[in-house]
Amino acid sequence: MQTLFEKMGGLPATRTIANEFYDVMEKEEGTRKLLEMHPKKLVMSRHKLYKFLTQWFGGPKLFGEQYVNAEWLELKHRRLNFNEDEKNQWLYCMNSAMGNLGFESELKEEIMTTFREMIAAMQALKK
Ligand code: HEM
Repeated sequence: MQTLFEKMGGLPATRTIANEFYDVMEKEEGTRKLLEMHPKKLVMSRHKLYKFLTQWFGGPKLFGEQYVNAEWLELKHRRLNFNEDEKNQWLYCMNSAMGNLGFESELKEEIMTTFREMIAAMQALKK
């Protein structure tokens, strides 16, 4: 069975998604709160997201086995204490990024479902 990484188009595609995700966040008024939670310069955030997504979708292990899971993500996001609004802004940026890049709606939905599941797993660990 093809991995999501293969379906999406490999390394160039995950790099493009990570960049488009942050481009959307920087451009849109409605995601200002989420942008403000980030460091001023997004170079490292773009790079980390690219490496994380590559590994998580089943591509090369660029990020490190011990980090690509809900436990580690929950730890990394704990101090942010994001609310429903910020969570929706995050999902909006991902959805728009894939829309802007012309992803087929079936693939986009499959990926959005994995994001929602990862967020739910992170939130379940917090309680
Ligand atoms: C849904 C709510 C989410 C919010 C509000 C959020 C917000 C943030 C913020 C503000 C940072 C930057 C932290 C910093 O550098 O100071 C960050 C880092 C990061 N986020 Fe999220 N995030 C969310 C969900 C996710 C999900 C679902 C994933 C993965 C699929 C993810 C992957 C990452 C990664 C890989 C980093 C870099 C961590 C590091 O190495 O420092 N985030 N997130």
